[in-house]
Amino acid sequence: MFDLQKFRQIAPDWGQRLHYHQELGSTNDEALRLTTAGVANFSVVLADHQLAGRGRRGAPWLSESGAGLLFSLIFKPDYGKEFWSRLSLVSGLGIASVLQEQWNLPAEVKWPNDVLVEDRKCCGILVETRQDYVVIGIGINVTGSPGGEESVAMNELTPHLGSREELLSELLDSLQREVSSCDDSFTEQLTRLREMCYLSGKTITLNSREEVFSGKMTGISDDGALTLLTESGLMNFTQADTIRVV
Ligand code: BTN
Repeated sequence: MFDLQKFRQIAPDWGQRLHYHQELGSTNDEALRLTTAGVANFSVVLADHQLAGRGRRGAPWLSESGAGLLFSLIFKPDYGKEFWSRLSLVSGLGIASVLQEQWNLPAEVKWPNDVLVEDRKCCGILVETRQDYVVIGIGINVTGSPGGEESVAMNELTPHLGSREELLSELLDSLQREVSSCDDSFTEQLTRLREMCYLSGKTITLNSREEVFSGKMTGISDDGALTLLTESGLMNFTQADTIRVV
């Protein structure tokens, strides 16, 4: 079980804005509900267990009780909606940076926003919006990874795993920094993202709007799009349903 008292000692400001539940349908659903009920900016919904956790494209997000960090950050940007499409990417950057810098893990971002370590996914991100709010849902496998062979839990990667309370505090600080500044710091953020880009140089197949494209991922363009060298030339993608490394 998450230790609320310990978390409030580590991170008093976050502690004040934390809505903790032992069990919930989905932290994203609860966070979206809170946006209509009047909630402080940078509030967080956290659950030990979700009964109806959601991933992208309507997929379920499964997790064993207490084995993950399942939370949703509520953010009301003070910049225009034209920048909101950057939020997925920079959220992945925020998570991967903590795993690299604080936990010494070789974390990479699989465009647009999965976080992988050693080719396996340890974190999924689901960004949803409602009116003036953005809800950034994060699922991290800490001591269990129910996603099968392609997923990994942090305790399989490092013997020096700190507490979930410490981890959450570090992740929230990092996420807050990245999402607050992506209107005017995106160029610098892209530089860091390109250094930790999992797909760069790999041959991939990408499904987008019911079409399949294959080629070599050449990088991330200045507006955050994935660039793919296909047989018919260089293409930019701002959206993808699935991406597989060939
Ligand atoms: C994905 O990789 O498809 C995104 C997964 C996002 C899962 C998290 S867990 C916390 C938050 N609440 C949800 O229902 N989903 C997100």
